[in-house]
This record gives sequence, C-alpha cells and structure tokens, in this order.
Amino acid sequence: MSISKLKLLSGLEKIASLKTQEEWDNSGLNIDSGKESFEKILVALDVDKLSLQEAIDVKADFMVVHHPLFFNPVTSIREADPTGRLILELIKNNISLYALHTPFDKLVNNTDWTQAQGIGLKDIENLTENNFGVKHFGLTGVYSDNVTLKDVIYKLSEAMDIEPSKIKAAGDFDSSIKKVAIVSGAGSDFILDAKLKGCDLLITGDIKYHEACYGRDLGICLLDPGHFNLEKAFVDLMVERLSILAGEEAVILSSRVQKDPFNIL
Ligand SMILES: [Fe+2]
Repeated sequence: MSISKLKLLSGLEKIASLKTQEEWDNSGLNIDSGKESFEKILVALDVDKLSLQEAIDVKADFMVVHHPLFFNPVTSIREADPTGRLILELIKNNISLYALHTPFDKLVNNTDWTQAQGIGLKDIENLTENNFGVKHFGLTGVYSDNVTLKDVIYKLSEAMDIEPSKIKAAGDFDSSIKKVAIVSGAGSDFILDAKLKGCDLLITGDIKYHEACYGRDLGICLLDPGHFNLEKAFVDLMVERLSILAGEEAVILSSRVQKDPFNIL
C-alpha cells in the first residue's frame, strides 16, 4: 500500500496552501527523491541528525517538517557541514522532504491554538490579519478570572510539560494579566501589535535583550518558554491531518527523538 505523490502533495496543499507562505520562506518540497508513491511518512519539527536517523531506522520515504532545510539558495553541498550532510543523507536514503512553515503558522488551528487552549484562554481572536480578515501570525485570548504573570508561568509549565525555570520572563511576576497574545516560534516582531491589541502579555520564542527592554518600556510582559516548546505540537497536529488524508494508504509516524536543544541546570 502506498499514497501517490499527487494525492499527498495536493492533500498537503489543502492542509496549508503554499500560496500563503511569506516571501522569505521556503516551504514545500525541499528534497524530491523522484519516487511517485510513498509508504511511510515521518513528521518532525525539524530535519536534523536525530530525526533523519529516525527516518532511516523506520524506513520512512517521506518526511514532513515545520522548518525548511534551507532558506537561501544552496551554493555548495559539503559533507563537513551539518546541512550539507542532511541533504546528502536524504538523497542517499531516497527520502523526500516537505516543509510546512509559514503556511502552517497562518492557520487558526495550529500551535498558537494548542497553546492558547493549554493555558485556558477564552475568546480567541487573530493577533494580526491580512486585508481580508484572514489570520496572519498569532492569536489573542483573555482570562475571565484574576491571573498574574506568575500564574501564567505555571499554566505554561503544565501545558508544555516543562520546568517553570525553563520559561524566561520579562515583567513583574505580580503583574495582572487579562489579555494574552501568543505567537509560536520567533515572534518578537509582534510586541507592538500585541500591545496595540490591548494585551498585557506576549508569549513567544527567541526573545532577546533589546526586545525585553522594548517590552518593558511599552508596558507589556513577555514570556519565552522556548521556540521548540512553543512549536512541538506541530507534530501531533500534522500527524492527525495526514492520517485522515492517507487513510490506509500510508503509515504516518510522529518523531519521538527530537528535544529542546537548550538545557537548564
Ligand atoms: Fe519555528
């Protein structure tokens, strides 16, 4: 049993259209092995040394990942370079690679939604939209009861199954939090958008020093539980959709080996 390349690619296009990707993104078929049908699909957040070895071990012939393997034109492929090695290994092992990055981010029912549900937000709305009112990046939601920044840290810790100490906080722990914005991945470009939407807090990944200072001056709290933790739900969300698409025609597997590259002692 196998799923045809045509059915798989058109199904992926229906899940999240490549037409919606940002100009700088490189979603879509990053590596095309030339196979016309696929038996085993592995879903991972990234293609890296661990997830690729997993794909080889389980004999997957197609990988679906969130982050593209390359964004800029490839001018050389070298074994000594980790990205070059991944490209060579994917080709050697006849594995096609498909990335669903910003088209997935723009879905409403994506990792933003999972996180908003996980920490108990209500009245969920788009943080940013295109000119037609369609979700761009991020969601907002509100708490009806009295919640502090410290409370949200514990809610996030529980929802993401991580230690509270993994969550970087900018803001007073006793700050009252009513409205919250969530942008999965690296969303510190949206600090002002969140404030203008009346949010007391933005939860996103990869927040840097100057962005934390900017948030403080603006009067908005920031929480950074880590890029990986914000987006790891991609795997389950895509496995669910691909399983419906493929039915009995292909085996859909979740990567089990990927973990946050950052450790806290
Ligand atoms: Fe990301």
